[in-house]
Amino acid sequence: MLKVNGISKSFSDKTLLSDVSFVLPRGEIIGLVGPSGGGKSVLLKILGGVMKADQGSIKTDTPHNYRVGFLFQEGALFDSMSVLENVAFPLLDCDHYDDLHPKFSQQEAYEKAYQTLKKVGLARAYKKHAGQLSGGMRRRVGIARALVNEPELVLLDDPTGGLDPVAASVIIDLIKKTLYKLTQTTVVFVSHDIRRLLPNVHRVLGLFDGRIQCNCLPQELLTKAPQHVIDFLATRYDFGINKTVIKN
Ligand SMILES: Nc1ncnc2c1ncn2[C@@H]1O[C@H](COP(=O)(O)OP(=O)(O)OP(=O)(O)O)[C@@H](O)[C@H]1O
Ligand SMILES: [Mg+2]
Repeated sequence: MLKVNGISKSFSDKTLLSDVSFVLPRGEIIGLVGPSGGGKSVLLKILGGVMKADQGSIKTDTPHNYRVGFLFQEGALFDSMSVLENVAFPLLDCDHYDDLHPKFSQQEAYEKAYQTLKKVGLARAYKKHAGQLSGGMRRRVGIARALVNEPELVLLDDPTGGLDPVAASVIIDLIKKTLYKLTQTTVVFVSHDIRRLLPNVHRVLGLFDGRIQCNCLPQELLTKAPQHVIDFLATRYDFGINKTVIKN
């Protein structure tokens, strides 16, 4: 379990996150939704330890820290590196080693990366440069990179963003087939694709005006979320409230 308590973050004079608190139970899949520019990516970066919060804390219920797998928005691959090098990167780019972050030789890291590429169906492309890949393949490499270090927390920043509907469905299926199988791994899943998100998460967090304004089960949204959150989601997903009937 991760306890996120009172996280605040401002850039110059703009407050992006104010007093953000929630609990991430181990093994849960959490959907994080909210308007563009609202701070979802910044919150993920803080959870992933790649950005510092101005205030607040993130605590685990274990004596050690936690391993993170991160699928960054737009994939964020190193285009001039091979697929294999991209996936091995989290195992090699570490300046402190401990039980949680064991030191791997390059050969061990490449072997692990190759095995992980098999899981996402990309083993045959291991030598390709990331820059040569299609959008869907880039996301698959990103998923492999997020999986390779056997993380306890996986952060998925808009994994289907910019993909066509078929490629998006392939990515969702792959996430379910790989990450969701890890019952001890907590996943935070950011998406604007509310239709695909809601059936695939245990809980929904809504980040609006820098605060968590909704934290409920997907099936409770219509009864528990504030109206403005429902209105926001309804612009992206037809809940069946205002079904348009097309007349011939
Ligand atoms: N390193 C930074 N320095 C200054 N401002 C930043 C930095 N990182 C993010 N911001 C600001 O934070 C705001 C948006 O944050 P963020 O990217 O987290 O939104 P988001 O909810 O992920 O949006 P989207 O849904 O479009 O991905 C932007 O206005 C951006 O200018
Ligand atoms: Mg973002």
